[in-house]
Amino acid sequence: MTMLNEIVAEFPDAISFAPGAPYEPFFADIAVGPLLDTYVEARRAAGLSEEAVRRQLFQYGPSKGIINDLVAAALRADEGIDVPPDAIVMTVGCQEALFLTLRVLHPPGASLAVTDPSYVGVVAAADALDIAVHPVPDDGSGPDLAALRATWERERAAGRRLRALYVSPDFANPSGIRLPLAARQRLLETASALDLILIEDNPYAFTAASDDRLPSLKALDRTGRVVHTGTFAKVAVPGARVGYVVADQWVTSRSGPPTRLATMIAAAKNAVTLNTSPLAQALIGGLLLQHEGSIAALGRRKAAHLRGNRAVLLERLVHHFGEPGQPGPGVRWWAPEGGYFVQVELPVEADDALLRHSAQTFGVLWTPMRGFHLDGGGERRIRLSCSSLEHEEIVEGTARLADFVNAL
Ligand SMILES: Cc1ncc(COP(=O)(O)O)c(C=O)c1O
Repeated sequence: MTMLNEIVAEFPDAISFAPGAPYEPFFADIAVGPLLDTYVEARRAAGLSEEAVRRQLFQYGPSKGIINDLVAAALRADEGIDVPPDAIVMTVGCQEALFLTLRVLHPPGASLAVTDPSYVGVVAAADALDIAVHPVPDDGSGPDLAALRATWERERAAGRRLRALYVSPDFANPSGIRLPLAARQRLLETASALDLILIEDNPYAFTAASDDRLPSLKALDRTGRVVHTGTFAKVAVPGARVGYVVADQWVTSRSGPPTRLATMIAAAKNAVTLNTSPLAQALIGGLLLQHEGSIAALGRRKAAHLRGNRAVLLERLVHHFGEPGQPGPGVRWWAPEGGYFVQVELPVEADDALLRHSAQTFGVLWTPMRGFHLDGGGERRIRLSCSSLEHEEIVEGTARLADFVNAL
């Protein structure tokens, strides 16, 4: 990915389908002072003294966070995830939520399965923690459960324990795939049978239309199988660096009373960032309070904008390359129902050299998919992100992509 970033930086004038970044004009809505005022007023109205609010914002704070009550209420209303505030840890982005969750779930000898392809950040976190990672293929209908079971058995035979599976069921990065409801149920059953934790990473679910949401794994979880991670990066602003992890499971030990998994995650956070910036949390708290206390309401305009962008991108891909999913000698592509990303398969291998050629000669950038695979795969595929572009840029960018493909 370092080379990718270098190539993207080298061609600032190219139309870029590469970054998975939010649309910047929405940042103009963020008025930091009034948002902090909204948060402070709400805490004052709930009975905190001015001094206590000041301490909350400016002093070192609790490792679990200061807006857990607001996030718990939003998750209950928006997602049907019903957990108390102390089952949530507010983190420095979703990335820290993933890192800390992996740390706490994996004692030496425990390993992690990830869907393949997968978000690179989770693999990087596992590598940094020296956790062995096993890819589980996902062809678009969900993680291959037979492969998951085989990995579990191989690990057991080798005297290790497969502890968790990382999965992003709603419009995953990079595949854009959404796991069907029946596949979610099957995955939960398999996780129970194998005594696996499912780490459900959920940054993109909000991009679906409100009448087109599927229940998250956490909302379907009846047996404490799922740890759920989320972020305000896509639904609000990445610059706040505020994410969270929902870990309501009780963990028993021989030496003391049962502890919530969230409490163990917060203890691990003490060794990394102590607590997530209270000012950044208060900003996000203010945003939630200004949007009916709802993450869905906070993300509504962004989701509508993304759906508009995706519609333009998909229409242009049909125009240039024909209907999605057609196997054949030319270009094949997949139309996602939400999220940021569209996968396209080229007739040739898509590597950094081809990306450079695409940028230099045709003025269009994209992301090679091979970097998201652990075990090979995706060699001819590219990821297109439509999140941060204007409609005219998508129209022009897809025309350039078509010229590039036709010249291959
Ligand atoms: C699937 C996935 N998980 C986690 C993250 C990290 O989110 P954050 O910016 O909140 O750390 C990203 C960021 O793009 C992502 O795509």
